[in-house]
Amino acid sequence: QTIFLKDYEAPAFAVESIALCFDLREKGTRVLSTMTVVRQSENMPNLVLDGDPQMDLLSIKLDGTPLPAGRISRAGEQLTIKDMPASGVLEIEVEIEPQNNARLEGLYKSGGNFCTQCEAQGFRNITFFPDRPDVMTRFTVRIEADKAAYPVLLSNGNRIEQGDLGAGRHFAVWEDPFKKPAYLFALVAGDLGVLSDQFTTRSGRTVALHIYAKARDLPKCQHAMDSLKRAMRWDEEVYGLEYDLDIYNIVAVSDFNMGAMENKSLNIFNTKYVLADPQIATDTDFDNVEGVIAHEYFHNWTGNRVTCRDWFQLSLKEGLTVFRDQEYSADQASRSIKRIHDVKTLRAFQFPEDAGPLAHPIRPDSYIEINNFYTVTVYNKGAEVIRMMHRLLGVEGFRRGMDLYFQRHDGQAVTCDDFVAAMEDANGADLGQFRLWYAQAGTPELTIEDHWEESTGRYELHIKQSVPQTPGQTEKAPMHMPFLLGLIGPNGQEMDAELVAGEGTRHDAGWLLHIRQSDNRYQFSGLGSRPIPSLLRGFSAPVTIKASLNRADKLFLTAHDSDPFARWEACQDVMIETLLDLVKAVDAGQPLDVGQDLIDACEKILEDAQSDPAFAAELMTLPGEAYIGQMMDVVAVDAIHHARIHLRHVLAHALESHWRRLYREMTDTVFGLSPEQKSRRALKNVALIYLAALGDNETARTHYAQSNNMTDRLAALQVLVNGSDDAARDAAFADFYDRFEMEDLAIDKWFALQALSDKPDTLKTVRTLRNHSAFSLRNPNRLRALVGSFASGNQLRFHAVSGEGYAFLSDIVKHVDQLNPQTAARLVLPLIRHERYDPVRAGLMRKQLQALLNVDGLSKDVYEIVSKSLMTK
Ligand code: ARG
Ligand code: ZN
Repeated sequence: QTIFLKDYEAPAFAVESIALCFDLREKGTRVLSTMTVVRQSENMPNLVLDGDPQMDLLSIKLDGTPLPAGRISRAGEQLTIKDMPASGVLEIEVEIEPQNNARLEGLYKSGGNFCTQCEAQGFRNITFFPDRPDVMTRFTVRIEADKAAYPVLLSNGNRIEQGDLGAGRHFAVWEDPFKKPAYLFALVAGDLGVLSDQFTTRSGRTVALHIYAKARDLPKCQHAMDSLKRAMRWDEEVYGLEYDLDIYNIVAVSDFNMGAMENKSLNIFNTKYVLADPQIATDTDFDNVEGVIAHEYFHNWTGNRVTCRDWFQLSLKEGLTVFRDQEYSADQASRSIKRIHDVKTLRAFQFPEDAGPLAHPIRPDSYIEINNFYTVTVYNKGAEVIRMMHRLLGVEGFRRGMDLYFQRHDGQAVTCDDFVAAMEDANGADLGQFRLWYAQAGTPELTIEDHWEESTGRYELHIKQSVPQTPGQTEKAPMHMPFLLGLIGPNGQEMDAELVAGEGTRHDAGWLLHIRQSDNRYQFSGLGSRPIPSLLRGFSAPVTIKASLNRADKLFLTAHDSDPFARWEACQDVMIETLLDLVKAVDAGQPLDVGQDLIDACEKILEDAQSDPAFAAELMTLPGEAYIGQMMDVVAVDAIHHARIHLRHVLAHALESHWRRLYREMTDTVFGLSPEQKSRRALKNVALIYLAALGDNETARTHYAQSNNMTDRLAALQVLVNGSDDAARDAAFADFYDRFEMEDLAIDKWFALQALSDKPDTLKTVRTLRNHSAFSLRNPNRLRALVGSFASGNQLRFHAVSGEGYAFLSDIVKHVDQLNPQTAARLVLPLIRHERYDPVRAGLMRKQLQALLNVDGLSKDVYEIVSKSLMTK
């Protein structure tokens, strides 16, 4: 049953208010819902409510009178009440089993506590309701529970009452003054500690901030709290947006399908994105916590105050909120490194999605299971689309658009078109062609040629675009996109020029060209010599490029470009080119040659590394195996691995003295989390990788033994797990396990690292770990750590030509699907791009997909992914 955007109809009934009463018990929880329903449309006499088919309906009354059986009918996920009056009060009582809810959607238990996840459609597992985001309701929630087991009772909004009920039970009543869709409802009942603080908004409102977690984890919540306060301030300063209630709660739970959830004033988080202290969290974890805390906070305006009309509009809130959290993070430390990381994520995950069987536009037109559309396309490509508008309209223009968007739509459930219209109207801009980004899937490809005319001093850029076909979309129109360009002279300086043909404007970071046609020409005059073009600076559009730049030009840009992103890009480009040549040579059994020019460029980078160590670390990080695979027609699994090892080996030997020097110089005696200290640690740990490539196991062993923080410890383990000293590896992993046995998030890393090893026996290790007492199919973090890391992070061993990796994954997916379909549907993804592999591997992958399709009772989540993936050849 496919749902289509074109079938959207406004809701027939509004729900003015809802009062929920939860009687939380160990065996069966009763939920009594009382709602005031008002008809919106004359010709729709029936009220249709959504509800899980398994839900036990105890009673249903209209205006105080039980409804006769003839007035109600239940089919599939729907409960229909016939001949509903123009308005009425419905009372519905159900019984649900949160204690048995392994799907982690609706009300469930995690670590002994009750919690909820309602986005996208979990509320229908709690009670019958028009479970769609354009039905916005005022919620009052009463929670009753055992007082000793669940001393903390939370829901959205303000607590207006609490007290004892006798017999060891107590209650609390919460009221949310803002109307909201059901997907933003939340409830928590548990035995939790709390870290409290407060924030004064710029207009003087004092907001109580609380982070709830297991008591033993409270010391790890300070970074999240500090991040929250910084995010609150940032949104005031950058967007003029203030928090709107007196209380902001965050609860950390260890069983969670996604990262976190922005429920109004009661965010629920995966512990992974709350808990951070240097003993259990890496520098990257600290940054991720800060980013997700900010993301959920920013949703209060972009998501909650203005929400989505329907789930096809998901990118309205997610693309925009990802853009906002990316910009927030860029303002905290290094803007260029943040940009590099975001582009890497886009290329590693979104580009393959956009080129594969599940390609969809950021606003999809159909789905079977909406949970499958919480994708890198909707989120991260969505953010790129917002970023392009930001670039096209400028910082101030974009802000004007945001202001108008809130002025028009506060309190409403709206569409992506409404957002773009606000941007247009606030700026008198025409984004008509630009809107295609919402409708067309596929990563546009730019082909660029340049031409220099010595006699006239004219330089021409010729940019062609084409958008590849994607499933269901064969005809594509050219898109409108900003293309940021620099022209660099032989001395490495930006060149002055005049744009005499083609659409573009001068910009503080070069030229902002507009691409609109399939074929675009831009001409510059007034140049004294041939410029070297710095293309797509800052990755100004989410596209791929084929350009006629030669290797010397790219290495010149690596050394001289004033745009750090473009420097990194040029360097990576040469590395990719080198790696692809090496792959060919490996396959042909020819000698492997890296090229002295690349070695020299890297030496220069290491000589200058002191000024920005983290940036040097980025430059010297080789492209990953999966990304190299993306650059090939058929992924050469083994040759890619060998080529990459070889390049690392050559750069390690040729630059050995630099690596030794930097490893020493970047080692701090005192641990700290300042950007400078993190930056030095990043380079030190890249140096460690190169030192290990020299065959030096000793440095990693000592590195592990002397480390006093998780970043260093993990860096050492990463090296040891691939190294040749088995005794050192086993000792370190055993030590790590003993030390962190009680820390779930650290143990996740322990599982993940072993699954990522390039050793030939990794699958065997993974199978053994599957039976480890600390492993569980019920915990998504653990599953992602072991199975997800192996299948999506270990190209070499997952894609072993025996097909055993595929069989292992499909077996796990089958089991997980019976417990938690949403997570199963994510785990299966590494199998779907069979068309990218040689016939043997492709056949083995399809065999496993086919076997999954034949599983009895397969969820629609996994069915949608698997069946779509089998529709490509
Ligand atoms: N809105 C949440 C976020 O991006 C994601 C929750 C999605 N959950 C789901 N089950 N699909 O912050
Ligand atoms: Zn979000």
